[in-house]
Amino acid sequence: MKKFILVLSILFASRAFAQTPNWSEHVAPILYKNCTNCHIEGGIAPFSLVGYEKAVAYAGGIKNATASRSMPPWPADLQYQRYAHERVLSNEEIGAIAAWVDGGTPKGDTTKAPAKPVLKKGGSITNPTRNLKMPDYSVKTTTDEYRCFVLPTGFTKDQFLTAIEVIPGNLRVVHHALIFHDTTAKPSQLDAADPKPGYLSFGGTGSSSSDLIGIWVPGSEPYFFPTGFGIKLPKNGNIVLQIHYPGGVNNVVDSTRVILKTTTIPQRPVAIQPALNHNAPNLQNGPLYIPANQVKSFNNKYDLPVDVSVFTVGPHMHLIGSSIKAFGVTTNKDTIRFVDIPKWDFHWQRSYTFRNVLKVPGGTSLRGQASYNNTSSNPFNPSNPPQAVSLGEGTNDEMFLVYFWYTLYQPGDENIVIDNAGLKNVSKTSVLKTETTRIYPNPSSDFAWVSDVRFAEGPLQWSITDMTGKMIQHGSDVLQSGKHCKINVSELTTGAYQISIQQGNTNYSGRLLKQ
Ligand code: HEC
Repeated sequence: MKKFILVLSILFASRAFAQTPNWSEHVAPILYKNCTNCHIEGGIAPFSLVGYEKAVAYAGGIKNATASRSMPPWPADLQYQRYAHERVLSNEEIGAIAAWVDGGTPKGDTTKAPAKPVLKKGGSITNPTRNLKMPDYSVKTTTDEYRCFVLPTGFTKDQFLTAIEVIPGNLRVVHHALIFHDTTAKPSQLDAADPKPGYLSFGGTGSSSSDLIGIWVPGSEPYFFPTGFGIKLPKNGNIVLQIHYPGGVNNVVDSTRVILKTTTIPQRPVAIQPALNHNAPNLQNGPLYIPANQVKSFNNKYDLPVDVSVFTVGPHMHLIGSSIKAFGVTTNKDTIRFVDIPKWDFHWQRSYTFRNVLKVPGGTSLRGQASYNNTSSNPFNPSNPPQAVSLGEGTNDEMFLVYFWYTLYQPGDENIVIDNAGLKNVSKTSVLKTETTRIYPNPSSDFAWVSDVRFAEGPLQWSITDMTGKMIQHGSDVLQSGKHCKINVSELTTGAYQISIQQGNTNYSGRLLKQ
């Protein structure tokens, strides 16, 4: 039966593209809907896909990245659970892009092309209640910096937060941000004690009274709570915006904004909490410690005391995390699926909102499973050779958290629809591809180290091609015992490149971003 369906779908696919798809009518609408919120001049992606000429220059890369489902980035397994507002392509859209590239990228009738998208500078939330801007901060740091900025809400009455959005001031340096609300004087005191704008604080805000109200990671959209729900923001509070700036930044100015939409009309109160976490007694086989050159898995567990309604889940781990999964086992032994990330990528962590509010009955055992790969076969391993990693806040430490956006259950909640748009056909799982060849620093401005555990000592050839497959530079090197190849990339213009290394009969390749 499966085979039959497969044959049918192949027949259907080839019939659908009996005529080569063209840019104007078929491909531009797909890219403008799914790619150009990031791939736009000034956006978070390293190159723009707006306009025929720009897109054609990356045609080969677009075909590969969409066929492998590494773009648009969406690490959650859609065979496991489906979500609201999924940012994925359907099998048919991927097929249309491939047929367009294979058919010679025809332009078609340009009068039929959709209007070019423009970079969204402001927020997407209409009529926000507050648009809070942190002071200009000049980031200058050699190591990871977590800095908290205190932004008074100025609310003289209690409010309920119904939507939140973060507009990063400088995409080059804002790695991710946590947004808290706090009604105590503690954050302002910490701010006053630090001579620079804001104050340094690893982990939380330094105040035990701060409530998490939002998370921003690259590519985040604004978060809208379902109608009738919101996070309570008592009057006279502060927003504490904690931004993670990466190391190696020299005097780059950031001024990130937090946009809030609130109402004084009471809403059913929502909280965001890491119900599954890395602390005892939640973590079953702790402590979270991964010796060098080991792969280790951990489980955590939390027995839910009461019925809750869950809107969203957000898994979180750092660089050597390799997979994370969360589900619930009810007292009748039914499984409630939350999220499964088979290949964790720190850079594409995000939250996942369900299509319907999800009822999780009291007595359900929430379960998390996480694996960490602290060997050099993990291309994201920050240490080479690998170093022991333990629980902590720094990027090179590890974490195991699954945040839940939830409220106490009321009958009928499971019928609340968050997204009823038709689901795309995605028979193939979206799994970010992970290359075993590691290139760092990445992005790079002057030189790049290439490493791969499979490298042997001895001679090798390297080449750099652009996204169209055009050869830009090549050379040779002799690997010594360190097994790293150093390539000068200072002459490259800003953009994305493929670095390929040939040693004997084996090819290694990886992507380099030139800054
Ligand atoms: C959420 C933001 C975002 C969206 C949406 C997005 N991209 Fe990307 N894309 C990036 C970033 C950032 C990179 C740089 C590499 C990286 O960080 O993985 C990238 C890299 C690429 C590359 C370089 C090769 C590779 O595989 O990394 C291609 C090609 C690409 N994107 C095509 C697309 C296409 C086509 C779409 C839409 C179907 C798309 N992207 C949607 C952010 C995005």
